[in-house]
Amino acid sequence: EINQREYLSNGEMKQWDGKAHPVYSPVCVQTANGLERKLIGTYPICTEKEAMESLDAAVAAYNNGRGEWPTMSVADRIACVEQFTRKMLEQKDIVVKLIMWEIGKSHADSVKEFDRTVEYIYATIDALKDVDRVSSRFEMEQGIVAQVRRSPLGVVLCMGPFNYPLNETFTTLIPAIIMGNTLLFKPPKHGTLLHYPLLKAFQECFPKGVVNTIYGRGNSIVPGLMASGKINVLTLIGSSKVANELKKLHPKVNRLRAILGLDAKNAAIVTPHADLKLTVQETVLGALSFNGQRCTALKIVFVHRSIAGQFIQLLNEAVSQLKFGMPWEAGVSLTPLPEPGKPAYLKECIDDAIANGAQVTNENGGATVESLVFPAVVYPVNEKMKLYREEQFGPVIPVVPFDDLETPIQYLIDSTHGQQVSVFSNNKEEVALLIDPLINQVSRVNINCQCQRGPDVFPFTGRKDSAEGTLSVVDALRSFSIRSLVATKLNDANKK
Ligand code: G3H
Repeated sequence: EINQREYLSNGEMKQWDGKAHPVYSPVCVQTANGLERKLIGTYPICTEKEAMESLDAAVAAYNNGRGEWPTMSVADRIACVEQFTRKMLEQKDIVVKLIMWEIGKSHADSVKEFDRTVEYIYATIDALKDVDRVSSRFEMEQGIVAQVRRSPLGVVLCMGPFNYPLNETFTTLIPAIIMGNTLLFKPPKHGTLLHYPLLKAFQECFPKGVVNTIYGRGNSIVPGLMASGKINVLTLIGSSKVANELKKLHPKVNRLRAILGLDAKNAAIVTPHADLKLTVQETVLGALSFNGQRCTALKIVFVHRSIAGQFIQLLNEAVSQLKFGMPWEAGVSLTPLPEPGKPAYLKECIDDAIANGAQVTNENGGATVESLVFPAVVYPVNEKMKLYREEQFGPVIPVVPFDDLETPIQYLIDSTHGQQVSVFSNNKEEVALLIDPLINQVSRVNINCQCQRGPDVFPFTGRKDSAEGTLSVVDALRSFSIRSLVATKLNDANKK
């Protein structure tokens, strides 16, 4: 058990003695009352006053762009981040263990999450040396010489998601600070404790007030922070509903930059020309990696009616091969779900589909034991069902038969989401005809492969309610800064 009694604010580890928030693992243990989620620790619940003090520390460290951090050279900021990363690597074992226990991610995927984050930091450092040629000099027309810079934006409120509590938090946090912004950072509700071993490294590697943390109930502390008007950038990986509510609270919303990764209902389109073996492999990965709890997961599959029977049969077989178990077990891919209400919600979606004429086609599909839910393939799904539009964010694969490619295209046009789509077809002409109508509905079209964020150098964004701003190594550096320049008119005195 880890009982966190400290949080980082204004360069100090503030000792906190208030009421603690209990952290329950999705991993269940047998108790006198039956199977129950295991208590693995506690963390502080900051008061509104404490949260505001942390925000004020970030404001003071930024000091209207005149603070030590925003005026520090890029090379010196990089050195701080490198030092932090070395210290972070020393904490790898404990952080990985906490990812497993807090959100139920398999050991292999928790290690991947950690390693990917470290690689991301180093890739960011490399990209920064070159982004828009920071501080390059070039001659413009009319004898004016410009020194181009990337300047920070101010104070960033950073909130990451539970499904990649380390990695996706850091894909915003690292670019935000490396560009010279100061930061207030709230770890996700599920996935909080794993940041605790890193607090000391933040304290030791950055000037005071550059990185500040707040803990506790987002809905009681975050609204006040937004309403203060002191936040310049809101970055959130989460729901569009929350993002919209928070943005509205800012008194000068037109001055707020929002960098958001939000809802998605990514579709796969499987045509009669698809290689079904490969399609099924990619569908299983796309729909069920980390139990379907990825914003990029495939959340609906459109299959041409002529091949639907064969596709469902192969999909059922592939799903039955997946290993179901505890995060530390070797080869496990389906693990307990961290959100306590999720099993009941998924059951509601499946029941609704059945009531409207669909079936669960795979053995044990949807079977639930406390936080474990066995994946369900649901077929045939239609527009009357919740699974047609709602983002299930869990191990359920809704399959929709279609006769005409206009059906999935129209689905995407009508959707409030616009992140990615996957097309499965080996017919080059067919694929070529699909790309234009699809790319104008989403931000990435994947051909014969699942939807995903990586490789991390690719821009990551979405249309409609799916995103605002662009993330990824290079784009995030741009998102957390403004391109500015010092322009000097050449005259006889300065020409040389
Ligand atoms: O949950 C949203 C993440 O951006 C998904 O990332 O595609 O690398 O799993 P991923």
